[in-house]
Amino acid sequence: MLRGRRAITFATMRTSPAPSAGVPSRGAFGWVEDSRRRLDRAGLGRRTTRRVRGGSAVGGSAVGGSAVVGSAVVDLSTNDYLGMSARPELVRASAEAAERFGTGGRASRVVSGGCSVHEELEDALAAFCGTEAALVFSSGYLANIGALTALCRPGSLLVCDESNHASLIDGGRLSGAEVVAVAHADPAATAVALAQKGARRAVYATESVFSVEGDAPPLPPFLDACRSAGAGMVVDDAHGFGLVGPGGRGSLRAAVGCQPDVVGVVTLGKALGSQGGAVVGTRQVIRYLVNVARSFVFDTALAPPSAAAALAGLSILRREPERSRRVLHLATRMAELLADARLPVSRPGAAVMSVRSPSAKSAVEWAGRCAERGVLVGCFRPPAVRDGISRIRLGVHAALSDRDVERAASVIVATRPC
Ligand SMILES: Cc1ncc(COP(=O)(O)O)c(C=O)c1O
Repeated sequence: MLRGRRAITFATMRTSPAPSAGVPSRGAFGWVEDSRRRLDRAGLGRRTTRRVRGGSAVGGSAVGGSAVVGSAVVDLSTNDYLGMSARPELVRASAEAAERFGTGGRASRVVSGGCSVHEELEDALAAFCGTEAALVFSSGYLANIGALTALCRPGSLLVCDESNHASLIDGGRLSGAEVVAVAHADPAATAVALAQKGARRAVYATESVFSVEGDAPPLPPFLDACRSAGAGMVVDDAHGFGLVGPGGRGSLRAAVGCQPDVVGVVTLGKALGSQGGAVVGTRQVIRYLVNVARSFVFDTALAPPSAAAALAGLSILRREPERSRRVLHLATRMAELLADARLPVSRPGAAVMSVRSPSAKSAVEWAGRCAERGVLVGCFRPPAVRDGISRIRLGVHAALSDRDVERAASVIVATRPC
């Protein structure tokens, strides 16, 4: 009898909550709609996009406007810088891995989720980046979280470039370290902040090629600042890996090589055309991360098809280094064309650059006008920009011709905000 009464009460609560004085009519999460509408009104709303098959044809940009599907769309919004993601070699490698290992990771790699393809990929990444070892994560976001939470802890000092990507910011927050943000690309300010280290452990975290502005400040002065203070350095090479340095081997190898006090992070979802991320560094650091990086230990292994696709992307990169050089050429050309038209364009260190817009709304509208004319651009607004200045973000890729870049530049110039 008692059991029956309880069951009825439970069912009633789940299906039709009775209105009562303390319960707002739209429920506990009623506020989310007001909050989202406020974002929309401020030009900060976001929505998901829909891609048509593998290429760059889309049903609309994330911020408005709709590209004409089937017409020659110039996609400057993708991070698939080397045009790898639809290459038959990657698709085949991914399908074969699915047949062999299954579609998913099935468990954490410290339980039973590890496959030979993870280890092959780690060996190949370490050899490519010139480090002793590598550890793959199921995203670049989780690789940054894992590296920073493992290498910093409450009582540590974490000094960050103020323009760092959200994954580095979140990793710092989760680590419990004292986080000090310093002026962008400023080795002197970094040295001053690191000098506050005292007896604490300290880490300096930065991007190599900054994800929004696309600039690439030289790394050696920052490494000098770290060494003077006895701090370690974590470099997120998400936008440099595959593009920068001889053979696209990345910023770390090009600028500082394998050093015991430097840890790199790369993403597999950008130049490699797959999905996932990796930390590269010494064997000691990697072994430590396997034990303590929570976003590795408590996360399902990277899906084997993604690991296999990244491995196939890496071998194409080794065979076709001219693809990286072509991307750098296209980026320089695009920046020149926009600068000639007096647009405030940043200087690209690899594939990415951005152009400032007077407001979030004007950036959204600008991106929409570009989309209507068949040019897809990214649109970065707070909170993705720390200085509050909204921008359109342009990323060139290897599949574009010089003519595509010229056409895209003329559309961006013609549609600029008044
Ligand atoms: C600088 C930087 N780091 C990390 C990430 C996260 O990588 P992923 O998309 O693989 O999670 C991104 C993603 O855009 C990025 O731009």
